Amino acid sequence: ITIRQATIDDIQAMQNCNLHNLPENYQLKYYMYHILSWPQASFVATTYETDLEGIDQDTISQPKADTAYIRPGEKVVGYVLGKMEDDPDAKDKTPHGHITSISVIRTYRRMGVAEKLMRQALFAMNESFNAQYVSLHVRKSNRAALHLYRDTLNFEVISIEKSYYQDGEDAYAMKKVLKREE
Ligand code: ACO
Repeated sequence: ITIRQATIDDIQAMQNCNLHNLPENYQLKYYMYHILSWPQASFVATTYETDLEGIDQDTISQPKADTAYIRPGEKVVGYVLGKMEDDPDAKDKTPHGHITSISVIRTYRRMGVAEKLMRQALFAMNESFNAQYVSLHVRKSNRAALHLYRDTLNFEVISIEKSYYQDGEDAYAMKKVLKREE
């Protein structure tokens, strides 16, 4: 498995991965907005499929014809979509990042892929955009993700946001302070 920065060529595969794994879905233009605005903040986990016939074509990155680096058979098995907070009305003016979405396809879970994606995104947001901390929301019932954030990555729960999700479920708002490595 390779972890690399996500590019515009990956957004279709990232969206498909998201559709398979989460009820919170986004239009392609929202992925594009992330990648164009903060190219260092989003990553994909990829693997090469040798059997190109038998696989779900939706999960393959679709390079444009004129792209210099065409990677036939590269399959996106996970992604993290990150951004810097850019809401002019945000109360906290300290530069900080936000994890919009992360998921890993079922057959590649419990192998450390999400942890690697998160660590890369947190490091890059701090390095490239001087993010002082990173925030995210997670469903109260999402045990796997909570374990990843709280126990593996040392995020803290800041508050509970009532009925944050469309189906009425509450979210934990979580945060991790980042320290620049000298
Ligand atoms: N139950 C308990 N702990 C778990 C589980 C689980 N089902 N899955 C992973 N963990 C733990 C691991 O044991 C590991 O802990 P460790 O440091 O003790 O070994 C840690 O979480 C990280 O595990 P990874 O292998 O890196 O996680 P994985 O690649 O399996 O991905 C993820 C975790 C992204 C939550 C995956 O289960 C998934 O895609 N779920 C569906 C989508 C989802 O819920 N995304 C998060 C929504 S919140 C948001 O996007 C901001």
